[in-house]
Amino acid sequence: MDGDTLLDQVERAERALVDASRRSVRTDGDRPDTQERTVQDDFDAIIAAEQKIEPRDWMPDAYRRTLIRQIAQHAHSEIIGMQPEGNWISRAPSLKRKAILLAKVQDEAGHGLYLYAAAETLGIGRDELVAMLLEGRQKYSSIFNYPTLTWADIGAIGWLVDGAAIVNQVPLCRCSYGPYARAMIRICKEESFHQRQGFEILFTLSHGTPGQRDMAQDAVNRWWYPSLAMFGPPDADSTHSEQSMAWGIKRFGNDDLRQRFVDMCVPQAEVLGLTLPDDGLRWDADRDRYAFTPPDFDELARVIRGDGPCNRQRLAHRRRAQDEGAWVREAAAAHAAKRSGGTP
Ligand code: 3HC
Repeated sequence: MDGDTLLDQVERAERALVDASRRSVRTDGDRPDTQERTVQDDFDAIIAAEQKIEPRDWMPDAYRRTLIRQIAQHAHSEIIGMQPEGNWISRAPSLKRKAILLAKVQDEAGHGLYLYAAAETLGIGRDELVAMLLEGRQKYSSIFNYPTLTWADIGAIGWLVDGAAIVNQVPLCRCSYGPYARAMIRICKEESFHQRQGFEILFTLSHGTPGQRDMAQDAVNRWWYPSLAMFGPPDADSTHSEQSMAWGIKRFGNDDLRQRFVDMCVPQAEVLGLTLPDDGLRWDADRDRYAFTPPDFDELARVIRGDGPCNRQRLAHRRRAQDEGAWVREAAAAHAAKRSGGTP
């Protein structure tokens, strides 16, 4: 598994999804004839058989709530995540870089849309989800509360932030909830391109002038720990991991994925000729893994609570965009009503 590229893993998950849709699940188990089956039994059997729960299926309320929370948080992250990068569209150093960055930011909007659509299959409206974000009742990823100070930050976001995002999200292609798993296949393929473009920006800078190299190193210094923190609190402090793994929503704990990310980045940093800002980073032959200094989880908690460097700015900007876009939503609703012969 570890020898695979992330894209190999996505392709395997895609094949497994197709295979799962062709198999039917035996939901009778070895239950005695006298005992009546419950919807919970059917749900458990589908999860145990690694099949997918679909919107038409019965599911426990807590499973539905967990999915809505996670998918909405994920969708909000994609949309808020457009801001730090959007900041550099008008200042990209060449037309080619600008076109690539524009396409990438548009991809993030698309990811938000697939994910809101996946959340809607659980019986909640997109308007309600957006309102919860704007009122601070739902979260988005901590990472997007850090500023993009130089062009090299766009490289560091692609390499580290999108890299962390795919390490976390490839296992979600095997999530037990069908619409989320299917959305993740496409998202991961696109994220893989995003990561490569970030790597390529940093490679160009780190092989450029001494000033460009310093700018690349400075960006990696600032983005390394926030990227490690993206994976969430340590497993021992994670509220949802155990139950989410039992339901097949999450496939690995936060610490396991953080470790995979470090193991992936160290050789890539060597190719870039850049240093990861951790004096404790070293190969641990006994564990066959890199040992590293963990992120500051108190800082993560503060950023999640709303006290990061850019939390207020990000939400204020999102609220302004929502208000300024009201006329577009009204016009679209009026147009749809006119076409269907009703009133808006
Ligand atoms: N930022 C904000 N909140 C976080 C967080 C983070 N980095 N990590 C954890 N949290 C929150 C959880 O939401 C939870 O809050 P709650 O109990 O109030 O709902 C709390 O901290 C405890 O954490 P848990 O480990 O119990 O939470 P989860 O089991 O949900 O695990 C997760 C957290 C690993 C982020 C998981 O939700 C997940 O895999 N989500 C899907 C992927 C995702 O949302 N990624 C965000 C980045 S998207 C992106 O980067 C876009 C790309 O274009 C770059």
